[in-house]
Amino acid sequence: MCGIVGYVGGQSAQDVVVAGLKRLEYRGYDSAGLAVLADGGLAAAKKAGKLVNLEKTLAEAPLPAGTTGIGHTRWATHGAPTDTNAHPHLDNAGRVAVVHNGIIENFAALRAELAERGHELASETDTEVVAHLLAEAFSSCADPAEAMRQVCRRLEGAFTLVAVHADAPGTVVGARRNSPLVVGVGDGESFLASDVAAFIAHTRSAIELGQDQVVELRREGVTVTDFDGRPAEVRKYHVDWDVSAAEKGGHDYFMLKEIAEQPRAVADTLLGRIDGSGSLRLDEVRIPPHELREVDKVVIVACGTAFHSGMIAKYAIEHWTRIPCETELASEFRYRDPILDQRTLVVAISQSGETMDTLMALRHAREQGAKVLAICNTNGSTIPRESDAVLYTHAGPEVAVASTKAFLTQLVACYLVALYLGQIRGTKWGDEIRTVIRQLSEISGAVEQVLGTMEPVRELARSLAGHDTVLFLGRHVGYPVALEGALKLKELAYMHAEGFAAGELKHGPIALIEDGLPVVVVVPSPRGRSLLHDKVVSNIQEIRARGARTVVIAEEGDEAVVPYADHLIRIPITPTLLQPLVSTVPLQVFACELATARGNDVDQPRNLAKSVTVE
Ligand code: F6R
Repeated sequence: MCGIVGYVGGQSAQDVVVAGLKRLEYRGYDSAGLAVLADGGLAAAKKAGKLVNLEKTLAEAPLPAGTTGIGHTRWATHGAPTDTNAHPHLDNAGRVAVVHNGIIENFAALRAELAERGHELASETDTEVVAHLLAEAFSSCADPAEAMRQVCRRLEGAFTLVAVHADAPGTVVGARRNSPLVVGVGDGESFLASDVAAFIAHTRSAIELGQDQVVELRREGVTVTDFDGRPAEVRKYHVDWDVSAAEKGGHDYFMLKEIAEQPRAVADTLLGRIDGSGSLRLDEVRIPPHELREVDKVVIVACGTAFHSGMIAKYAIEHWTRIPCETELASEFRYRDPILDQRTLVVAISQSGETMDTLMALRHAREQGAKVLAICNTNGSTIPRESDAVLYTHAGPEVAVASTKAFLTQLVACYLVALYLGQIRGTKWGDEIRTVIRQLSEISGAVEQVLGTMEPVRELARSLAGHDTVLFLGRHVGYPVALEGALKLKELAYMHAEGFAAGELKHGPIALIEDGLPVVVVVPSPRGRSLLHDKVVSNIQEIRARGARTVVIAEEGDEAVVPYADHLIRIPITPTLLQPLVSTVPLQVFACELATARGNDVDQPRNLAKSVTVE
C-alpha cells in the first residue's frame, strides 16, 4: 500500500504534490519522491525515509518550476526502503517517470526481456520495468495514454500506475487494476490520487476509476478508457468529508478503516504466491527446499496478537506437515534455555519488525544454529534484516495501535508457511493441501461477507458497555481466537476480559460464571470434527445453566447452537483450520464498538505503543 498523487493545472506541481503526499503519508513512509515536467524536460527527486527527508532535499534544491507532476509515498514491498528503490522510477533517457502502488507479479520476466533489449535497470523494484516499457511504447505511438494501455495489457498482478512523459507536457496518465485511484476534477486543474484526502483542499468533485481503466489528465479535463481504448462511462461524485475523515477513508477511526481493509489485505498477502496450477510459490523464502525438508522441529516466537497468530499456526503446521511445533511467547523464550539446533526452524512473527522481545528471541535462536524465518509487515525493519528469510505480509501500514488487519495477514502467512512445508515435504495430506490452497485463495470474499453483517454485533457491544467483565471461550483454533478477542477488549475497552480453552472451564474458571455475565463462545465447524463441535455445544449449555449470557459465534447452518445462544453471530462456512480468518472479525468489531461506547480512543489506547522496542 503506497500513496500516489498526480497533478496538472496552473499551480506549482511541486507544492500541490508534496501537500498531497502529506495527506497520504499514513499509507506508507518508507520513502517519498516526485517528478515534475518543466522546460521541455523532466526533473525528479526522491529520498528514503519519511516525507520530511524529501522536503529537506527540496528546500535545499527545489525542482524547476512546472505545473505538471506526480509523487509517491512508499510502503516497500519489492526492494528495501532506499533512495534507489524510492519512486518515481525513470527510463534510461530520463524522459518517462512512473509511480506505482501494488505488485507486478510478472516483473522478473519483463525485466529479463528488457535487459536483453539493452535496458539498464537500477533498482530492485517491480515498478522500474514499467518506466522502460512506457518509454518503448511511447516511442512508437507518441501517445501517453495509448502507451499506458499497451503496457497495462502486459502486466500481471495488482497495480495503480501514474506516469508523465517529457514529450507530452501538460499530461498525466494513470491506470488502475485492483489498487484504488481517484480523479479530482478542479477548475482548470485535475488531480489523481490513491484517495481523495490528497486533493480535497483543492476540489471536492471526484471520479472513482473502475477496474482496468486508463485515465488521461489535462488542465481542461479527463478522458477515461478501458485497457483496449474503449471510452468508459464515468460517474462524478461530491466528496463531503473533511480532511481528517478523508485520511481515514471516511471512518471515524483508523482502526475501523483497518478492519474494513482486511479483505484487501488478505488478498494482497496471497497475491503472486499461488501459481496457475494451484501450488504455492514462495520464492522469497530463501531457505533451500532441501534444508526445509530436513527441519525436525518448528518453534514460533511472537508477542501479543502476533503470538495468537503463532498459536493458530501450530495447529496448521503440525496437521499439514507432521513436524512437531511449539509456539512460545518471545519474552519467555531465551530465558528458559530452549533446545535448538540446525534442524530447528524458528518462525518470528511481528507486524512492526522491531519488537525487542521477538528480536532477542530470534538472535538467541540463531546463536544456537537454528534457521529463522520472519513473518513481517514492515519491509526493511530489523527482524527481517536479521533473519535467514522473510515472508512479508501485505497489510499496508497499520496506524491504530490495536492490531487487526496485520493479524489476519499474519494468519495467511502462517497458513502459507504450513502449506508450503507440507507441499515440499510431500505429506499424506497432499490432496487436502491442494484443496486448502484453493480455499485460501477465495477466503477474502468470506472476510468481506462477515464485514457486511456486523450491525447486530455493534448493537450488542453498545448494550454491554456497562459491564465489568467479558469472558471468551474457544477450542482448537478457536482457543487463540478467544484469547485474541479478550486481548482486543482489554486493550481498547479497559475491561476485565479473559480467554479460556472451553474444555478447561470445568477445571476452575467456571467458578467465575454468574448471572448475566457475558460469555463469547467461538464454535468450531460442525462438519468434519463434529466431536469437537459437540463438546463446545455442551460447554455452552454448562455456562448457560449457571446464568451466563451467551454470545455464540457459529457457522451458517449450525442449528445445534440455536437453543443455547442468547445472541448468535453467524460466520461463513470455512475449512476448520481457516476459520480464525472469519471468526476474529466480529471480535474486533465488538471490542472497537464497546470501547467507543465507553468513550475511549480506540486508535491510541492508554499506556500502549504501536511498536514495543524495549524488553
Ligand atoms: C495488540 C497488539 C500487540 C502486538 C505486539 C507485537 O493489538 O497490537 O499485542 O501484536 O506488541 O507487535 P509486533 O507484531 O509489531 O511484533
